[in-house]
Amino acid sequence: MSYMAASSLLLLLFFSGSPIQILGLGVGINYGQIANNLPSPSRVAYLLKSLNISRMKLYDADPNVLVTFSHTNVDFIIGLGNEYLPNMTDPIKARIWLQQRVQPHLPQTRITCITMGNEVFKTYDHQLWSNLPAMQTVYNALVDLGLDKQVTVTSAHSLDILSISFPPSAGSFRQDLSEYLHGILNFHAEVKSPFLINAYPYFAYKDNPNEVPLDYVLFQPNQGTVDPITNLKYDNMLYAQVDAVYSAIKAMGHTDIKVQISETGWPSRGDDDEAGATPENAGLYNGNLLKRIEEKQSTPAKPNVPVNVYVFALFNENLKPGPASERNYGLYYPNGTPVYNIGVQGYLPGMVYTSPSTKIALSVVSNVLFIVIAYLISAGKLVDLKMEGSSD
Ligand SMILES: *[C@@H]1O[C@H](CO)[C@@H](O)[C@H](O)[C@H]1NC(C)=O
Ligand SMILES: *[C@@H]1O[C@H](CO)[C@@H](O)[C@H](O)[C@H]1NC(C)=O
Repeated sequence: MSYMAASSLLLLLFFSGSPIQILGLGVGINYGQIANNLPSPSRVAYLLKSLNISRMKLYDADPNVLVTFSHTNVDFIIGLGNEYLPNMTDPIKARIWLQQRVQPHLPQTRITCITMGNEVFKTYDHQLWSNLPAMQTVYNALVDLGLDKQVTVTSAHSLDILSISFPPSAGSFRQDLSEYLHGILNFHAEVKSPFLINAYPYFAYKDNPNEVPLDYVLFQPNQGTVDPITNLKYDNMLYAQVDAVYSAIKAMGHTDIKVQISETGWPSRGDDDEAGATPENAGLYNGNLLKRIEEKQSTPAKPNVPVNVYVFALFNENLKPGPASERNYGLYYPNGTPVYNIGVQGYLPGMVYTSPSTKIALSVVSNVLFIVIAYLISAGKLVDLKMEGSSD
């Protein structure tokens, strides 16, 4: 952020009549980094703090991020890419990986979970389909290192592991995956780790824009759908998807596993054939979802289990392959500007310029101001400050 923006923020702080809105978000966020223009992790730490987001998911175990977020209150899910899974079935390699990539960050960085692979069933690699041995080996290595009470092990799956997703009570997994999922579910039940799904009602809408009601997928007021077996009413597709996964897990004999949403989101831009990918829709999807998370809502079939969500994603990622939507899931542009308004204000501090020298001075000033602001935010003193400012 520039000096000008920094100083106008300060003006806003001191002289505006309206309080700056800072929500305590119970939501998590995915920090994808397939881009060449993202701000440094230390600037991202300020952005997260200003948003009061304290749960983050990475796709790797990037030491730059993990070191930067030491001594913060941010809980991390870290990832091991699919390509590492075969090696992780070797207990020695699993232990070495943990000793080199995870243990040095504990406990000062709050790593709570490792996802072993992402959407392995989307690959045609049957060896990967059985990612269970790798999960088991890494879990055993955590036990050996005495870390299993702080860090758990899981994997994240796409929703197309379901063969039936509606009505939610009839949810079931694809037949061809059942031999793999049996072992995976037993593992989750045994080590008490959650079953993660990447759930995108956007995909359902994009594939069928004439039949899927937009309001139903965007959490807008709508007539909803009723599960004819349970009579439970669903006013949005995401909750129906989560309950379908619970039903599928139950059909395999488990009622002891929690389902969490490791990714969900909506693209703000897409190709011509990607219906619904607009900033307005993305703002409604994510804004409405955040409100529901704030209210600690649960799904109809699991009334006592608040929905647990990691939004995808913090930033637009300019190097992601595929259709245009793939590069436009971010809540923020890499420069810290929100892509659309979701009712939450966040701040990304300025970069330190290398020339000319006056700019350095100015950006140092603005960085210091941001540190002060971040401190005030963390200490909950913004309101006092504003009142002092407006009393003169
Ligand atoms: C941040 O969130 C936490 C818990 O969600 C809450 O207790 C705290 O008051 C929030 N702080 C601010 C400045 O919003
Ligand atoms: C797997 O282990 C082998 C042997 O140690 C190593 O050469 C290879 O790079 C590893 N694969 C990955 C993806 O790390």
